[in-house]
Amino acid sequence: MHKSKIISQTENYVRQVLEGEGSGHDWWHIHRVRNTALALGKAENVNLFVTELATLLHDIADHKFHGGDEEIGPATARKWLERLEVEEPIIKHVCDIIRDISFKGAEVETPMKTKEGEVVQDADRLDALGAIGIARAFAYGGHKGRELHNPNISPERHDSFEQYKKSTGPTLNHFYEKLFLLKDRMNTKSGRKLAEERHQFMKEFVDRFLSEWDGIVKF
Ligand code: ADP
Ligand code: NI
Repeated sequence: MHKSKIISQTENYVRQVLEGEGSGHDWWHIHRVRNTALALGKAENVNLFVTELATLLHDIADHKFHGGDEEIGPATARKWLERLEVEEPIIKHVCDIIRDISFKGAEVETPMKTKEGEVVQDADRLDALGAIGIARAFAYGGHKGRELHNPNISPERHDSFEQYKKSTGPTLNHFYEKLFLLKDRMNTKSGRKLAEERHQFMKEFVDRFLSEWDGIVKF
């Protein structure tokens, strides 16, 4: 099958699975991550076919919504790509990216094995930052029934994926436990620059959020 047909069929498949999803892992997240990864990928001279397939399939079955099963994502992507008779080295590369891409806790390193992986991870992380990142964090928190913020519960620095996955803290803690850490963990130069800008915006948001938290105590 021609590459463009593999891409368009994969796009249709992913769109149909993720359309209307309410926790910020919807089709439009995939749409943005794909655009960002292709833009970063052109600057970094990577294999754009692998990059595009990995972005399209990276959230096809997330461990967060499948009882913590970390193999469900790569396994679902593999089944789909085998059905389209994609070559094995490409399938393996895409599945490795999907397996490695996730943030796993403040103290856990998440290195990518290839340039393509680095680009896809940066693009996914950029979508967790900035205005969209703020919207997605609260959408996810609402989906999970979390409090917006609770001054009595401090953020934690998770040193294993197991611990990170179990965390049920308020959404504002997620900024300290993950989102504010991302700018220093970007892989590509252009990704780092974009992350820096979005980071500053989020910082301003959180400062304002906290300044409004107790209501107007005095005019
Ligand atoms: P990754 O792409 O690193 O695997 P996730 O899929 O865990 O990231 O996160 C994607 C989105 O879901 C992010 O925008 C993130 O803010 C949000 N999210 C994940 N976990 C939480 C949480 N505990 N509280 C609030 N938002 C979360
Ligand atoms: Ni994602």
